[in-house]
Amino acid sequence: MQFWKQFQPGFTCLAPMEGVTDIAFRQVVAKAARPDIFFTEFTNVNSYNSDKGRHNALDRFQTLPSEKPIVAQIWGTKPDFFTETAQALKQLGFEAVDINMGCPDRHVVATGGGSGLIRTPELAKEIIRATKMAGLPTSVKTRLGYSRVEEWRDWLTNILTEHPDALTVHLRTKKEMSKVAAHYELVPEIVTLKNELSPETVLIINGDIETPADGRKFIDMGVDGIMIGRGVFHNPFCFEKTPREHSREELLDLMRYHLDLYDKYELVPYDPLKHFYKIYINNFPGASDLRAKLMETKSTAEAREVLQKLA
Ligand SMILES: Cc1cc2nc3c(=O)[nH]c(=O)nc-3n(C[C@H](O)[C@H](O)[C@H](O)COP(=O)(O)O)c2cc1C
Repeated sequence: MQFWKQFQPGFTCLAPMEGVTDIAFRQVVAKAARPDIFFTEFTNVNSYNSDKGRHNALDRFQTLPSEKPIVAQIWGTKPDFFTETAQALKQLGFEAVDINMGCPDRHVVATGGGSGLIRTPELAKEIIRATKMAGLPTSVKTRLGYSRVEEWRDWLTNILTEHPDALTVHLRTKKEMSKVAAHYELVPEIVTLKNELSPETVLIINGDIETPADGRKFIDMGVDGIMIGRGVFHNPFCFEKTPREHSREELLDLMRYHLDLYDKYELVPYDPLKHFYKIYINNFPGASDLRAKLMETKSTAEAREVLQKLA
């Protein structure tokens, strides 16, 4: 069965998040409550296609069998590099590839990649065709437009006429970054457009969805699946089918697990790991003092010591 057709309506995805959804954090989420589908962080196709960058790209494509189903996300501007990278992903055992056409980061946009592709729709189409040549199910993750919400119809038409196997729409423009509320009001029209132009494309909605229950209303509108990004920062158990309260001990156990995985995969340097501590050290008495202590640590070993001293 084609990769995207195996999921029941209402399926859930953990959003690709650069610097967040690496192999360690994906396992943390899998332990807490797994989504139906994981995505890797995005990887530049230029890296895979250069001698210098290939090693790093391969590191970023490292996954475990237990993470399946997982989709590799790639970005760039050179169609032939997309073909070659998607071919490599197939050989690595990936079952699907996703093209990033939504990243608003100025360095990415300056290269013409990510949401920069919204301004070069012909190139965006060429990239979809080039990626498909590798024979992997090919999806696109994008935004409503570059600077104006009204761009959504032309832009999504451009994508849908290439019949991607799945399409994730983050309901904001590039210009809006994540600063305004997601444009939920457009979902019914997006569903209609998708059904007219490419009914076989699986449609995923993203933006400010914190739990699968929040996403239910979109499924009732004809959307196939939902994607959660920052919701996992507020609640690492957000993919739970039956949500419940979690104790301080459960959160600390999850953090210890993350520390162990960080060491296991030799994910250096240490400081970026501290960004995650707020996820675990939150919402219990003494959490802010404990976080302050953890911010002063210089290694996973020191962080473990701080946790060990807790009453
Ligand atoms: C730290 C961070 C890194 C991100 N990196 C990526 C990325 O690599 N690829 C991508 O398609 N989107 C990336 N995004 C966007 C998210 O996938 C998602 O579209 C966005 O956060 C909106 O969803 P949310 O409101 O559920 O967080 C990133 C977002 C954040 C906060």
